[in-house]
Amino acid sequence: MINKRKKVLAISGSTRINSNNEAIVKAISEIYKDKIDVIIYDGIAKLPHFNPNIEDNKVEQSVIDFRKQIDESDGVIICTPEYVFSIPGSLKNAIEWTVSTVIFSEKPVALITASTSGEKAHEELYLIMKTLSMKVNNDTRVLISSPKKKIDRSGKIIDKKTLTEVKKAVDSFIKFMNEM
Ligand SMILES: Cc1cc2nc3c(=O)[nH]c(=O)nc-3n(C[C@H](O)[C@H](O)[C@H](O)COP(=O)(O)O)c2cc1C
Repeated sequence: MINKRKKVLAISGSTRINSNNEAIVKAISEIYKDKIDVIIYDGIAKLPHFNPNIEDNKVEQSVIDFRKQIDESDGVIICTPEYVFSIPGSLKNAIEWTVSTVIFSEKPVALITASTSGEKAHEELYLIMKTLSMKVNNDTRVLISSPKKKIDRSGKIIDKKTLTEVKKAVDSFIKFMNEM
């Protein structure tokens, strides 16, 4: 059976210029350009603060667009650093805007944490993804500690072990999408 080309939304949890996490997303997009279409979502810093008092029909256009992009994707890649032993506030805020919807439900996800250490954020995001019923398991996630040494300035993953681990996670993620 020939599978249709999958549309993947990639979300970097870092808003930093020259971010390692953004570089990893771009590297994945390049490595898999013959297999999947990766759209990089760059709006997390522009989303308003989540407020449960705002009814769904009154949310800002940026939130509507964000939800639509997730809904229309076949799968989502989240690549994030750890900030003070947690995921960055802007990423958490973006996720909170999806909680009243079912757009993440049964959506395949690849989860990459690239951070100095990153262990806590990696586990936390895994728990969040499971709670939102996303399709994620230990095969579709990878923790990259000290990413600065593993990615060069042009955004290539130069560390062989890291490259192998990232490919293994993305391959499993693509398999998930093809099974849907
Ligand atoms: C506010 C702040 C808090 C941080 N806290 C942690 C932390 O708790 N654990 C960790 O592993 N790294 C922490 N770091 C370091 C980041 O993981 C590191 O800078 C990472 O490369 C950022 O990802 P980026 O290159 O994609 O922006 C922190 C960085 C910032 C700016």
